[in-house]
Amino acid sequence: MQEKAQKIKTMLEAEIKNMTSSTMVNELKVKYLGKKGLVTELSKEMGTLSQEERKEAGKSLNELRHFVEESIQNQMEEVSQKELDEKLKKEKIDPTLPGMTLPIGSVHPLTKITEEIEELFVSMGYSVVSGPEVEDDLHNFQLLNLPKNHPARDSQDTFYITEELLLRSQTSPVQARTMLKNKEKTPFRIICPGKVYRRDDDDATHSHEFHQIEGLVVGENISVADLKGTLEIFAKKMFGEKREVRFRPSFFPFTEPSYEVDVSCFQCGGKGCNICKGTGWIEILGSGMVHPNVLNDCGYDAKKYTGFAFGVGVERVAMLKYGITDIRDFYANDIRFLEQYNRVEGGREDESK
Ligand code: DAH
Repeated sequence: MQEKAQKIKTMLEAEIKNMTSSTMVNELKVKYLGKKGLVTELSKEMGTLSQEERKEAGKSLNELRHFVEESIQNQMEEVSQKELDEKLKKEKIDPTLPGMTLPIGSVHPLTKITEEIEELFVSMGYSVVSGPEVEDDLHNFQLLNLPKNHPARDSQDTFYITEELLLRSQTSPVQARTMLKNKEKTPFRIICPGKVYRRDDDDATHSHEFHQIEGLVVGENISVADLKGTLEIFAKKMFGEKREVRFRPSFFPFTEPSYEVDVSCFQCGGKGCNICKGTGWIEILGSGMVHPNVLNDCGYDAKKYTGFAFGVGVERVAMLKYGITDIRDFYANDIRFLEQYNRVEGGREDESK
């Protein structure tokens, strides 16, 4: 037994240094200590020995097992460490390499324009309010001095859901809603950005769905001068400090007098070019002094209160400002188009560009 144990020991000593990977060491472990391993097999021979022989044999068997286990464990530690070192060398991280930039979304140009306009009016003391896109005839038309069968309704080809329900054709119904909601009938300033719908055939300049921003100021002694001053600030903010505004008489049922407002051309400065079609002026919005019927119908005493209102097309402002020629580009969700307006005010630009 001692001899056999010595043989196994010598064999292991010779073999173990050649085991240069953890897989090899594991195989060696099976060879010696596995169910049918050399050491295991040898210990089975114990049964054939006499009582006295067993004592000595047991001792050398234990020594052998101990030796084999320790040798294998040591070898395992050694090769594992080597393997780890190699792996670390291979997977070395270079912290000076530039990081990967994950693609980030961009602010939609219409959102950007809307936020710019909101910010401007909030800085002038306006509240931002909203109203329902599914409106009723009462708010979209009747309370705005457009009774049923009024010819001016035709100018806004409306999507009707029922006789009385419709998709709002303008943000102006929020004027009526705001005045009606204000039970104390106190003065206020609001803007209302939102989506509006018209039964238009879509082409480069028309969309059945687009965005407006409504403005309404109601108070005592509000005059056309206030309207003009406000819209001047608006025009300069959106189209540049040098811009002037021009009021042209127009007609809207809910305002009297009504004006179409032009801004001096930001491309040619007024000399005449393709954008302003040679006139030096570009139409940007409709506005006017709130019609007394509207004030009275919404519970404001028109003898005491006056007000001004305006309605801006967000797509129109964005198209003018960015030189976009097809309104459908706003809704096609082509990332190549949208990401051109990636600059977030006060935020960061996409650094991958
Ligand atoms: N609601 C009008 C439209 O969609 C735009 C408008 C014109 C709004 C004059 C106003 C206004 O508030 O005073 O065509």
